[in-house]
Amino acid sequence: MKKLIIASMLLIAPAFGVASGGGGVALESANINLADQASLQRGAQVFVNHCMGCHSLQYLRWNRLAADAGLTDAQVMENFVFTDANAGSQMTTSMRPEEAEKWFGTAVPDLTLVTRWRSPDWVYSYLKSFYADPARPYGVNNTVFPDVGMPHVLQLLQGVQKAVYQEHKDAAGHTTKVFDHFEAASKGSLAPAEYDRMVRDLTAFLTYAGEPMQLERQRLGVYVLLFLAVFFVLAYALKKEYWKDVH
Ligand code: HEC
Repeated sequence: MKKLIIASMLLIAPAFGVASGGGGVALESANINLADQASLQRGAQVFVNHCMGCHSLQYLRWNRLAADAGLTDAQVMENFVFTDANAGSQMTTSMRPEEAEKWFGTAVPDLTLVTRWRSPDWVYSYLKSFYADPARPYGVNNTVFPDVGMPHVLQLLQGVQKAVYQEHKDAAGHTTKVFDHFEAASKGSLAPAEYDRMVRDLTAFLTYAGEPMQLERQRLGVYVLLFLAVFFVLAYALKKEYWKDVH
């Protein structure tokens, strides 16, 4: 019995694990709406302008994005593509892995599946959790991803945040610093609510990129349920018809 309880606790542990970041901090809810095409379009725009210099989305093609975001291939090529890629090309970056290693000390990950190996809430919180830390190579650190190699590329938009800690004393008299909240050290060009919305759009776009079929599956699911409902009524009527002479 004991073993069973321990095994079942281990089974459900990962479900709770997603609620905290790598740094042990609580994650904010991303609250994305994948059915909102305007949000996907805005998110794609931010990604192309601010992230694609370093990150690729190699499992997504431009024309697939166009179809799902409600745009024509020509609109996507004109507004999003600044290289010689064509509409059927994958969304790759021009940065070479050797350069990434030299500049950031680590490879720059492809982000197509990032919301699946992390979670949408993780990505949303990560993009809001950069703070000033002069000890780091790019002057920033991140509470969700401690000692991250990525610079805060959205700093001009968000502004600079300072991390405020609380000191805790344990029974043995050791003090530990625990992250409490962020304080704005300087303003960015966006108001906090605007920054949140932008990061939400970006997270929605990355979540869509991780599973473009998701929207179609949800639409299909409705038809499947409708079919099952109609089929149930027919099957029930048939059953009544067959059994009415038996009694
Ligand atoms: C200047 C290059 C650069 C740009 C631009 C950039 N990143 Fe990064 N990013 C990195 C590097 C390098 C890492 C790996 C950090 C590490 O492992 O320490 C990373 C890591 C990440 C991760 C964590 C992946 C994981 O799970 O390990 C996410 C999420 C991410 N970036 C999102 C973004 C988004 C969204 C943008 C656009 C707003 C962006 N990045 C722009 C360089 C960049």
